[in-house]
Amino acid sequence: GKGAAMVTAVAYRLATQHAERQRVLDALRLSREQLLEVKRRMGEEINRGLAKESHDQATVKMLPTYVRSTPDGTEHGDFLALDLGGTNFRVLLVRVRGGKRRSVEMHNKIYAIPQEAMQGTGEELFDHIVHCIADFLEYMGMKGASLPLGFTFSFPCHQNKLDQGILLKWTKGFKATGCEGEDVVSLLKDAIHRREEFDLDVVAVVNDTVGTMMTCGYEDPLCEVGLIVGTGTNACYMEEMQNVELVEGDEGRMCVNMEWGAFGDHGELDDFSTEFDRAVDDCATNPGKQRYEKMISGMYLGEIVRNILLEFTAKGLLFRGKLSERLKTRGIFETKFLSQIESDRLALRQVRSILQHLGLTSSTCDDSILVKEVCSVVARRAAQLCGAGLAAVVDKIRQNRNLSELKITVGVDGTLYKLHPHFSSIMHETVRDLAPQCEVTFLQSEDGSGKGAALITAVACRIRDMSY
Ligand code: GLC
Repeated sequence: GKGAAMVTAVAYRLATQHAERQRVLDALRLSREQLLEVKRRMGEEINRGLAKESHDQATVKMLPTYVRSTPDGTEHGDFLALDLGGTNFRVLLVRVRGGKRRSVEMHNKIYAIPQEAMQGTGEELFDHIVHCIADFLEYMGMKGASLPLGFTFSFPCHQNKLDQGILLKWTKGFKATGCEGEDVVSLLKDAIHRREEFDLDVVAVVNDTVGTMMTCGYEDPLCEVGLIVGTGTNACYMEEMQNVELVEGDEGRMCVNMEWGAFGDHGELDDFSTEFDRAVDDCATNPGKQRYEKMISGMYLGEIVRNILLEFTAKGLLFRGKLSERLKTRGIFETKFLSQIESDRLALRQVRSILQHLGLTSSTCDDSILVKEVCSVVARRAAQLCGAGLAAVVDKIRQNRNLSELKITVGVDGTLYKLHPHFSSIMHETVRDLAPQCEVTFLQSEDGSGKGAALITAVACRIRDMSY
């Protein structure tokens, strides 16, 4: 009768809605073949970035860092370190002890970088940085001390030597004017001179990936790769000098800052990206740039999720089809919510309360299930893409050394990697699957940016003192 017809109609509607949701989510689910293709293309870009003749056209820049060896444990001394480009700006004092009583002791203070400094002029940004250094020296009771300084500056920089870094392009939402094309060491020194209060001996410019590799290398000599999955994503590794065509010489190895976040900027990821990725890219401070990073790192995952939720809502598949102002607000979905929503200990009731906290009040139980599924699909894709890239890196190292099996350690840092409940295990599994000839160990770094900058500075000072 009529009742049965209605039940059928409802069942039919639910089934089509389910199919519709899955159709959208399926575009974010990558097959093994697709991941292998990502790995292959990354391998190709690695070679293009390293070779002199293709370097300019390559998206993955493979920047020489002038770091030639991992620490050997004899480094020692007191160093200052700056860390700009992660979640926080920090100034650190690092005491490195060598030999038998080998240890690294750190004091640091976190400073906010106000929006105006990030997006104003370069002078304002560097004046602010120097202001923070002055405050730190005062706070530590070291006013007037002139210690060697390592500057962890986590953006793509062209280096001709260790103590230079010409900023190629801002990433991760920074856009202070007058910095691109400039040496950040000069920008820092100019700001120090403007203040006329102290002088600093800038010894090294260090990418956070390199700092992470060095920190882990201090404990594990097999660590020859550094990986960051935080606000942004990037990797570095020890490459054979003969392959680093941008630098003279064929002996030994040099650490290369890959800047893999820019992978995809020439369309290499177009087959795998979705309308949601394009929407996120369009609204960023750097449209068209850092496409791989925008599919993987913490600064963007929440935005991908929000864009999917917007689409579901517009189609009447979520939140009873009611588009709230909150959901239209950029940036409401911080990465920490992604991690929280996917936490296995969390009951759906709690997912709902997180949504309520986000101002998404009209949610039902089904809504919570769907939001959780969206978060999980987006994070899984990120972890797999990251794993595919890393598989290309470790296989490249294995081939460099003509080995059928490679044992290697990857030093890792970054909030997404450390705090997300599933990201790391999915990433590990992907690397294992896509690079079966490599036995990869992952080592979490404790404060790679600060410690690593100090270690690199220490190595440089050791060598410099030797040659005097
Ligand atoms: C961005 C930067 C890169 C950094 C990464 C992680 O991709 O361009 O230099 O290593 O973020 O912080």
